[in-house]
Amino acid sequence: MTLSCIVTGGAGFIGSNFLHLLAETRPDWKVVNLDALTYAGNLENLKSIEARKNYTFVHGDIREPDQVEKAFAAAGDGCVVVHFAAESHVDRSIQSGIPFVTTNVVGTQVLLDASRKHGVTRFVHVSTDEVYGSLGDTGFFTEETPIQPNSPYSASKAASDFLVRAACHTHHFPGLITRCSNNYGPYQFPEKLIPLMIANASESKPLPVYGDGMNVRDWLYVVDHCEAILAVLEKGRVGDVYNIGGHNEYPNLFIVKTILKTLGRPESLIHYVKDRPGHDRRYAIDASKIERELGWRPRYKFEDALPLTIRWYQSQTEWLQRVRNGAYREYYAHQYGN
Ligand code: NAD
Ligand code: TYD
Repeated sequence: MTLSCIVTGGAGFIGSNFLHLLAETRPDWKVVNLDALTYAGNLENLKSIEARKNYTFVHGDIREPDQVEKAFAAAGDGCVVVHFAAESHVDRSIQSGIPFVTTNVVGTQVLLDASRKHGVTRFVHVSTDEVYGSLGDTGFFTEETPIQPNSPYSASKAASDFLVRAACHTHHFPGLITRCSNNYGPYQFPEKLIPLMIANASESKPLPVYGDGMNVRDWLYVVDHCEAILAVLEKGRVGDVYNIGGHNEYPNLFIVKTILKTLGRPESLIHYVKDRPGHDRRYAIDASKIERELGWRPRYKFEDALPLTIRWYQSQTEWLQRVRNGAYREYYAHQYGN
């Protein structure tokens, strides 16, 4: 079926991978990318897509109803929405929580209101396993696990999940929520663990490992995440939550050492630094619901996709350099002339 689809945050890491997936697998869809181009938004991620006839970029902030209207004017009433736009970095939320509340909470409500007004037929809210809080040495997050966020980032995501849930309950709004584990892959901003460590190791700079390096994350290749979101958009049950993960639990130190080994760099580059305040110890996802009900399964093995990711960053030295020196922020003015 041909759809008209608004993707918020399409210039970010996962959003841009999702737009690449749509261009490959749903070439007939009309796609509108609504993005404010914060520091995390990089239109250079979308160079191969921007000339497509059925792709439109709307430079707009989800907190501003007038700017959100422009996206609906381009997509038309009755479209679908996939909502990625967010402030996404835990460390930044510890420095300052306000942008997380305004974008993740207020912005999501603005988008929900506009979506109701324009008769959106499905709205996928892309959330995170971090809303469930932290696990001990055993167990997994299921969709029934209580919401117990520990950082300003995860608290703001949890609040946005509740707003989507409330819209479904109160207004019979066609919302669906996904909660995925940590992603890695192309186009991730090099402030997050994997791209930061690849970038620093490549330049023989210190690799800052928080605390004892034994915090565990459940890693999923970004393409697998995007395919899961597409499955939820097309086949998910309205009002439901779907956990997404690939059973790849590793301590941070293992990830960092694997990157160093793959790049042929010494472990002496590892620098143990002060721990993140309130650092969640372990995340692990039970994704059996989406596997059973929607037939989604991850296609990429961690042992293959981490080297693939490392090679991608090694081959994209210009992309990485322009992100690191800030030049990527000039691309919008250059391409779109304002
Ligand atoms: P990102 O930080 O790379 O990208 C966020 C995008 O949103 C950027 O393009 C930015 O410009 C845009 N944006 C920010 N504020 C905006 C606003 N007010 N209006 C419009 N656009 C705005 O994030 P990401 O890692 O791609 O994550 C995307 C979504 O997936 C987020 O909602 C995040 O919570 C969720 N998520 C991320 C991960 C992960 O490992 N990265 C895992 C699970 C869920
Ligand atoms: P991050 O990529 O920020 O994702 P999240 O906090 O959302 O899980 O961090 C992943 C893990 O890596 C987390 O346990 C914190 C740790 N970490 C470091 O040890 N050093 C770093 O420089 C960063 C950015 C993260």
